[in-house]
Amino acid sequence: MPGRFYVTTPIYYVNDVPHIGHAYTTVTADALARWHRLIGDDVFFLTGTDEHGLKVARAAAERGLEPLAHADATSERFRETWRLLDISNDDFIRTTEPRHHRSVQAFLQRIYDNGWIEKGTYAGLYCVSCEAYYTEADLIDGNCPIHGRPVEWLEEENWFFKLSAFEEPLLEWYAAEPDAVQPEGKRNEALGIIRQGLADISITRTSIRWGVEVPWDPEHVFYVWYDALVNYVTGIGFGSDQERFERWWPAVHHLIGKDILRFHCVYWPAMLLAAGLAPPHRIFVHGFLLVGGEKMSKTRLNQIFPADLVEEFGVDGFRYQFLRDQPFGPDGDFSYEGMVTRYNTDLANNLGNLLSRVATVVAKKCGGIGPAPRPDSPLATLAADVYEATAGAWAEVAPSRALEATWRLVHDANAHLEANEPWKMDPGPELDAVMGDALEVLRIVAVLAHPAVPRTTEEIWRRIGLAGSPADERLPGAATWGRYPGGLPVQKGAPLFPRIQAG
Ligand code: ME8
Ligand code: MG
Repeated sequence: MPGRFYVTTPIYYVNDVPHIGHAYTTVTADALARWHRLIGDDVFFLTGTDEHGLKVARAAAERGLEPLAHADATSERFRETWRLLDISNDDFIRTTEPRHHRSVQAFLQRIYDNGWIEKGTYAGLYCVSCEAYYTEADLIDGNCPIHGRPVEWLEEENWFFKLSAFEEPLLEWYAAEPDAVQPEGKRNEALGIIRQGLADISITRTSIRWGVEVPWDPEHVFYVWYDALVNYVTGIGFGSDQERFERWWPAVHHLIGKDILRFHCVYWPAMLLAAGLAPPHRIFVHGFLLVGGEKMSKTRLNQIFPADLVEEFGVDGFRYQFLRDQPFGPDGDFSYEGMVTRYNTDLANNLGNLLSRVATVVAKKCGGIGPAPRPDSPLATLAADVYEATAGAWAEVAPSRALEATWRLVHDANAHLEANEPWKMDPGPELDAVMGDALEVLRIVAVLAHPAVPRTTEEIWRRIGLAGSPADERLPGAATWGRYPGGLPVQKGAPLFPRIQAG
């Protein structure tokens, strides 16, 4: 039975430019989307940009631009980066689009009509230059941390979402859906927040215009987070195409960084319940990529841009690193030296070398025509185990483990060549058997590794003489041993992954 797999990334703020932290989440979402297409699921993959709010308005002002002009330019940089990284998103949402404004208004109107939004007074320390509230702890010597000027006590009439009423319903949801928030540690963190008690939250502002107008009180705009979260339902037709919406909701798989856990694991499910909708099916929370132990952000010098790494390691070298290196969940340290080592070991020496050895021997000793595998090859059982392990890991959103499993097959196929030394064998059935097995491994690996390294696996497919693309294959059938037909022309070519000297 094919399933439905709706996968999302956070929508990224356009006050920043794309860096490897954003790419980490997006590449993971992409690999998952590609895996689920391979297993025959119906897939919808959404990413986009978050364009309202004070931070963005201020970033635009600093550049002397209108907020929309600034958002247009930065949003395009995100799209460019995703094209560069072969991200296969089905849609790209911008919160400034009319479709999103309509959906936010319809969504929050529903919550209002259901009686979960009320007028209240918001009071706090306010910096007029920032147009933002601060807590005591934010202040530096009692002054605004940005402007160094005194803050004032301000009270403002705002609209509040009655989050406090959702403590119990949220706890019930968590109890009923023990797998909804993963990994376990992050689920416990979210439960901790709820158990501490939830206060009502102010969801509108009158001090800023750069946002979505509140339909029942146009003096106000929604605070950026309550507009942003709604993107996940806008993208599938909420408020405009009910049939499409029901096709994908709640089969959603949200991927987020741990910085936005409270919004996704507490506020968002509560908002959905308040609107009379089901909470998300899954929320996967990952840790931070750290560089030299520090979180990257635009305030750090150690920000690293995807395009620079792609230039050096290639698109698939980039994708492989971020999928393979760090288990999805805990924080992980990114290091350039580590990336070079992994690239050389797994990609150049293992996968690249396997293809080039096979192509060389087939050219020299098999007249350039790839032989068929043996049905009873010693590699056949391993291939079956590797498929199970790979599929299991992708199902658990563990790309690192999935690739580790797939690479066992690459590694053992190399070992099989080293043990048999086909380059020393005479042409004949024995040589054909060894080479046929190695070609079959390449075919299976091309399918299993396709979600991580799509271009490389397409190239392997082509070089071993197969028509079409591994993307058109369907699992589990495509992992069945013995499908490489033999009798196909095998081509030699440039190394898939030229070795890189650390420097
Ligand atoms: O929070 N390591 O947008 P944002 C790993 N607009 N992932 C990282 C990272 C790092 N060092 N830095 C960023 C927002 N990320 C809101 C989201 S969603 C309705 C609204 C990734 O541009 C990670 O996925 O600050 C994190 O959650 C996201 O970028 C934050 O992106
Ligand atoms: Mg952020």
